[in-house]
Amino acid sequence: MSPANDGRHTFAGGADYLIRHATLRQLQLLEAIVRLGSFTRAAEELFLTQPTVSMQIKKLSETLGTPLFRHVGRTVEPTDAGREVYAACREILGTLTDLEVKLSDLKGLKRGRLRLGVVTTAKYVAPEILGAFCKQYPGIEVSLRVTNREHILERLMAHDDDLYVSGQPRDDNEQIESIPFAPNPLVVVARADHPLAAEREVPMQRLADENLILREPGSGIRDAVLKWFNESGLEPRVRMQLGSNEAIKHAIVGGLGISVLSLHSLRLESAGGGLALLDVQGFPIMRRWHLVHWRGRELSLVARTFRDFAVDYEPEIEVRLAKAETAFEQMRERLRQGEAAGR
Ligand code: PGA
Repeated sequence: MSPANDGRHTFAGGADYLIRHATLRQLQLLEAIVRLGSFTRAAEELFLTQPTVSMQIKKLSETLGTPLFRHVGRTVEPTDAGREVYAACREILGTLTDLEVKLSDLKGLKRGRLRLGVVTTAKYVAPEILGAFCKQYPGIEVSLRVTNREHILERLMAHDDDLYVSGQPRDDNEQIESIPFAPNPLVVVARADHPLAAEREVPMQRLADENLILREPGSGIRDAVLKWFNESGLEPRVRMQLGSNEAIKHAIVGGLGISVLSLHSLRLESAGGGLALLDVQGFPIMRRWHLVHWRGRELSLVARTFRDFAVDYEPEIEVRLAKAETAFEQMRERLRQGEAAGR
């Protein structure tokens, strides 16, 4: 008896019904909804409207003859069948991603795709590095996802992108490879007319007297700032929380308080854009970015090439930082001289 007619299903025969009636897009949607816990977030991630997502999941559920989600209060949860489909989706989509990597490696660096996820502090340099990279390898299509540390770690766990730029890695996961990359100093930022702007070595305790603007929960900067306060034995006076570095800079200029930001987020304004750096003891908090990816999953040729390219780019980033530092230092000096003359 030949293997094709030994009475068991052949591979195609076994999956024939699903192959005819379900689509890969539907599986991708289901995977995103379960992972993100919401139809809306899945629709956003995949650039679809929510009605489209609901319609596709309804069709998939009809095809499989069983409900895939149930509503619990305002959230959705997968049913037991939904969980089974989710587990299978992860395997299918993972296999397809590996296939994409292999096929793209066969094409070399002439064509290919790079999906990069970066924390918000790195958005000030990542587009520039990507620009230089694409100039050298014009056939490569790139996508850049910018979000806070917590969401980047979620994307890492879900294998959503090829490579990540994030803050300090989690040292408890041996599966994750992380290469230290450029410095990411966190500095105290105030409005240019702040009374401490001309001071040197401001004592730490003074920070606790200021209204502090914090980033949202999930932000790496927020965690670093709260850790700093905790280790200094000080209680921060949190005035407000904002979800973006840009919004925080506007809030500082608007007189709502001071904040701690990455020096990278300031370099474009340079000193004179209404902001000043405060020279507080214990600052800057010296952090580094890391280039992060899974050890177990092979990096594509494109991603490997970009990783090396980014590491080589580091000296340019350092020069930029040094210029920003000097500009703010000169500004402080001008303020000091102005104060001395006014005395
Ligand atoms: P985030 O970035 O505050 O946007 O999470 C922080 C970082 O540089 O680690």
